Amino acid sequence: MSPPPQARKVFVKSFGCQMNVYDAERMKDVLAGEGYGEAADIENADLIVLNTCHIRERASEKVFSELGKLRELKDGRRALGKSTRIAVAGCVAQAEGGEILRRQAAVDIVIGPQSYHRFPELLRRSDNGSRIVDTEFPVEDKFDHLPAPTTEAIRSRGVSAFVTIQEGCDKFCSFCVVPFTRGAEISRPLARVIEDARLLVDAGVAEITLLGQNVNAYHGADETGATRGLRHLFERLAAIPGLERIRYMTSHPNDFDDELVAAHAEIDKVMPFVHLPVQSGSDRILKAMNRKHRIEEYLETIRRLRAARPDLALSSDFIVGFPGESDADFEDTIGLIHEVNFASAFSFKYSPRPGTKAAELTNQVPETVKIERLARLQELEVAQRREFNQATIGREVDVLFEKTGRHPGQIGGKSPYLQAVHVEGPVNLVGRVAKVRIVGLKPNSLTGELV
Ligand code: 5AD
Ligand code: SF4
Repeated sequence: MSPPPQARKVFVKSFGCQMNVYDAERMKDVLAGEGYGEAADIENADLIVLNTCHIRERASEKVFSELGKLRELKDGRRALGKSTRIAVAGCVAQAEGGEILRRQAAVDIVIGPQSYHRFPELLRRSDNGSRIVDTEFPVEDKFDHLPAPTTEAIRSRGVSAFVTIQEGCDKFCSFCVVPFTRGAEISRPLARVIEDARLLVDAGVAEITLLGQNVNAYHGADETGATRGLRHLFERLAAIPGLERIRYMTSHPNDFDDELVAAHAEIDKVMPFVHLPVQSGSDRILKAMNRKHRIEEYLETIRRLRAARPDLALSSDFIVGFPGESDADFEDTIGLIHEVNFASAFSFKYSPRPGTKAAELTNQVPETVKIERLARLQELEVAQRREFNQATIGREVDVLFEKTGRHPGQIGGKSPYLQAVHVEGPVNLVGRVAKVRIVGLKPNSLTGELV
C-alpha cells in the first residue's frame, strides 16, 4: 500500500561534486511540491534517489553495488507491507540509461540531470509499476520549471548556499565525461540568478557559491538580451544588501578576462580564493588532454590574479597517470606545484571513462605507477596546505560563522580563504562575519579568538 501523500518521505543520497549537492536540494524542492518530506534515514524512505557521479574510478560499479543494497532494503520493507520506489539520478543515470533497469530490477526510475523538473510526472507514470528512463536533453530549461525552495528549506541548509549559473561543457578534455553527461554549455539568464540569490539572502543566506563546470565562461543574457560575463554578475550580486560573500567554482584557465581578474581587486565581496584546475604540469600531457593552453599561460593567469589580489589562495585539480605520462612529465607537475604554492588541491589517478578519447589510448600507465605518483603529489599538497594555514597564524581574518561547533560554546565558520575556523563565541554570531585572530592549527581546521 502506498502511504497517503502527506506522509511520504524521500531520501536523496548524493555522490560527487558540489553541483550534485545543489541538484539534490532542487530535487527535494520539486518533490516537496508532491508531498514528499525528507526522511531522517534511508530505511524510512518511500522514495530513494541515488544521485550519482560518473567522473572517476569505477563509478558505475559503485552504483550497482549500492543498488544491490537498496534492493535488499526494498525487499525488507515490502515484507512489512511498505512500498519503496528507487530512482537513479545524476551522471551515471545519464551515461548508463536503460542499462540500469536491465541490470537491477529494483530500480523504478532513471533520470538524467537535465530532467529533474520532470520528476513529478515520472513518479506519476511509474505509479502503475511502469519502469521509466528519462535521459533526454529537453528543449525547455529545467531551471524555468524547478520550484523555488521554501524559506524553511533554505534555513535548514545553512548560511552558505550554492546557485548553479552555468551547466555543461563544450571543451571536451580528452579524459572527461562531463560534456557527455551534462551536455552542452549553457548559462542561466542573469535575472534568474539574481532572483534566486535574493530569495536565499532574504531567508538568511550570507554567502553564495556560484556553480558551473566552466563557471568563468558564464555568459548569461541580461534584461535587454545582451550577453554578460561573470564580472557583471558579481557586480549585480554585490549590490544585494545582506549578501556578504561571493565565491565561484570551477574555473577554466582559458576563460579569465581582465575584467574578471580585476574583480578580485575591486569587489570586496568576491572572496580571495580561486579553484583553477590545471590537471598536469607538462605541456605534452596538456596537449594530449586537449586542454588548449600551455603551462606558461596558466602561470601568467596566476600572475595576473595575484597582481590583482596578492593574498589570493589558489587551489587546483591534478590527474596523475594520464596515458603516456612519463616520469619527466610527472616531475614537471611536481615542479609546477612548487612554483605556484597551492593552498589546497585535489588529485586523482587517471581512470578511463567510457566514450572519451583518452580511454582509447593504448599507452595507459600501470596502476602501481599511478599509486606512487599520487602518493608523492598528495604528500606535497598536504605540506603546502599546512604551510598556507601556518602562515595565517597570528593574522586577523574575517570569519563567516556557519554553525555551532562540536563542543559547547564553540562556533565554526570559514575564513576568506575557505579555511575552517573554530572559536569560543556566542551562537548569535552564526550567519554573521566577525574578526578573528588565528592562534592555532589543527589537522583540518584553524583555531582562533574573537577580536
Ligand atoms: N580520471 C581521473 N580524474 C578525472 N577528473 C575528471 N575526469 C577524470 C578521469 N577520467 C578529475 C579532474 C577534474 C575533476 C573534477 O575530476 O581533475 O578537474
Ligand atoms: Fe571536463 Fe574539461 Fe569541461 Fe572541465 S573543461 S568539465 S575537465 S571537459
